[in-house]
Amino acid sequence: MSHDDFPTEDPAVVTCGLPYANGDLHIGHLRTYVGGDVFARSLERLGQETAFVSGSDMHGTPVAVNAEQAGVSPEAFALDWHEQYAATFPEFNVAFDNYGHTHDETNTAVTQDLVRDLEAGGHVYEKEIMVAYDPVDDQFLPDRYVEGTCPYCGAHARGDECDEGCQRHLEPGEVEDPVSTISGNPAEYRERTHKFFEVSAFADYLSGFLDRLEGTSNARNQPREWIEQGLQDWCITRDMDWGIDYPGENPQDLVLYVWVDAPIEYVSSTKQYTERVGADVFDWEAAWKAGAAGTTEDHPDGGEIVHVIGRDIIQHHTVFWPAMLEATGHTEPRAVMASGFVTLGGKGFSTSRDRAVWADEYLDEGFHPDPLRYYLATNGGFQQDVDFSWEKFRDRVNTELVGTVGNFLYRSLLFAHRNYDDAPIADATSDEVAARIDEAIADFEAAVNDYSIRAVGDAVTDLARYGNEYIQRNEPWKLVDEDPDEAARVIHDCVAIAKAIAVLFEPIAPEKCERLWDQLGEAGSVHDVTVEAARAEPAGDLAEPDELFEQVEDDRVEELNAKLEDRVAAAEADDEPGADGESDDDTTDDDTTDDDTADDMTDIEPLSDDRISFDQFQELDIRVGRIETAEGIDGADDLLELRVDLGAETRTIVAGLKRLHDADDLPGTKVVVLANMEKAELFGVESNGMVLAAGDEADLLTTYADAGPGTKVR
Ligand code: 2FM
Ligand code: ZN
Repeated sequence: MSHDDFPTEDPAVVTCGLPYANGDLHIGHLRTYVGGDVFARSLERLGQETAFVSGSDMHGTPVAVNAEQAGVSPEAFALDWHEQYAATFPEFNVAFDNYGHTHDETNTAVTQDLVRDLEAGGHVYEKEIMVAYDPVDDQFLPDRYVEGTCPYCGAHARGDECDEGCQRHLEPGEVEDPVSTISGNPAEYRERTHKFFEVSAFADYLSGFLDRLEGTSNARNQPREWIEQGLQDWCITRDMDWGIDYPGENPQDLVLYVWVDAPIEYVSSTKQYTERVGADVFDWEAAWKAGAAGTTEDHPDGGEIVHVIGRDIIQHHTVFWPAMLEATGHTEPRAVMASGFVTLGGKGFSTSRDRAVWADEYLDEGFHPDPLRYYLATNGGFQQDVDFSWEKFRDRVNTELVGTVGNFLYRSLLFAHRNYDDAPIADATSDEVAARIDEAIADFEAAVNDYSIRAVGDAVTDLARYGNEYIQRNEPWKLVDEDPDEAARVIHDCVAIAKAIAVLFEPIAPEKCERLWDQLGEAGSVHDVTVEAARAEPAGDLAEPDELFEQVEDDRVEELNAKLEDRVAAAEADDEPGADGESDDDTTDDDTTDDDTADDMTDIEPLSDDRISFDQFQELDIRVGRIETAEGIDGADDLLELRVDLGAETRTIVAGLKRLHDADDLPGTKVVVLANMEKAELFGVESNGMVLAAGDEADLLTTYADAGPGTKVR
């Protein structure tokens, strides 16, 4: 079964993975939330009825261990962080329709009901297992209270996940050589009776589910391997005080495992939204109840559930969670979008070493949230790891937001305002520009259906690039005296493009686009319109524009880098043996993006976890070639026009080598060519293939021995 394209007639719920309520947010955390917000807003711009929900993850050992170290109760500790998160997300224009938490009454009730349904369906059983126990402290050690060695890959691992190695979820009793993270005491294993959810019974269902699942390819492909290896049933209870009590008979006073009640918050948070706005505005049951449990004939399969998560929690969202939903008559996810991690200057974030750009810090430095949203949303594909550095941030803001989008808007709107401020400035948008706006809308729609928020951004920057070219080509400043009607027509077109930018860029830069909407004299809020508004004629009642985006200056970058370095040095000095201050205890780091081992690596982009199949690789027609000639191209500072012998034929290939290689040295050089790269026209020359090169210096790939032109690379 394939899904209908968005927008559909069913209500959509976009969710973001719940942050553990246990520490400050940095910009690495924000990637998922910005991604979810951009996607939810994009669906709304398409006219899809959408609820965007999340909440704080209050339970489990990631919270309890940190609370214990802070010397406060887990409840007080988690609530404090929850309130901070609830305040921080809106500051980044991440506008959840509901942001709850897992310890509230709604989630407690919804969770206990759902677990009762699992039991009633015969999907839960009891089993004796060995759990880690600290005999000195007389304490059971669930999950992050214990660490040891991963039984699958031998890496150092937490009790619940192999965070430094194979990333597997680990069941209680699996970690080898267990040690208490609280006391440092060696732990022993003791027998306890726990409850298990029979995930293994859902293997066939899950295979079919993965065939239907949309979203990023990492989320669709990785779980197949786990299913093929054989699914284990899942222990859903823990020996802890902090958590939601197991409903029903519970002689050992077990609580539910945090990963049971956390995703259920997606449902609870949607329910709270309905309770606030009314079912006529958004009906949580129409979205979440499917099949026999479905409440309305209009939505027999429930709604469109899209989970936006970090790539470390794919297994929970594509195996355990859909099995729970299926077992209890809830709607299965339509898509899972799993983001890569964010690194900082080529290295991992380290909260313990203070090597992070904190969310609050970014705002305190006086930056607007929308440029960071743009950076996080568009710097690489969603599932790729993204590196943040202040230099890269400066470059993208200055080149794309200021130089392309902002420049087009400011020059057009200032000219329009000065010459035609009070009245509609021409009758209608020209066919050429109307067609280009239609193309941008089509790109936007395709991007959303492809779950590519980067492509959402590209749809707009491409349109702005066209706008700059259009105004430059038509030179309205010359026409205004010679042919005022024609000048009005050109500038009307530019205002129409600006209006389309406001609509299509709103998901990425909501506050800036709201301001642009006002400058354009449009009524209401751009947040309430659909892409159809991008086709509608502009109001033409233009306010005096100001520049939407601000340049990031070089000295700011230097200053910010210096601050970061000082902070890291101070944290490291505190961490020296014998120095005062708390020890660097990575068990308190909540985030698997922390990667202190990456400190040794300088400026190497993280390896992609976005695997391709051998069949996909086979689709690349990579050949050995020999450069015959290399010449410059008129007007292109960076490009060379190469003639490359590929054995069967000699091709013209345009390559960005001019500044990096001496054209006279290239003839005779053997190169490696992607022969079935789509053709592109650059400065009037058709390029038919791509020469492969490594790094910023375009180090040309060649062969080790004497493979001749046309030889296939496999
Ligand atoms: O890994 C984490 O940070 C978890 N707090 C995510 C929970 S997402 C969910 F399913 F609720
Ligand atoms: Zn492992």
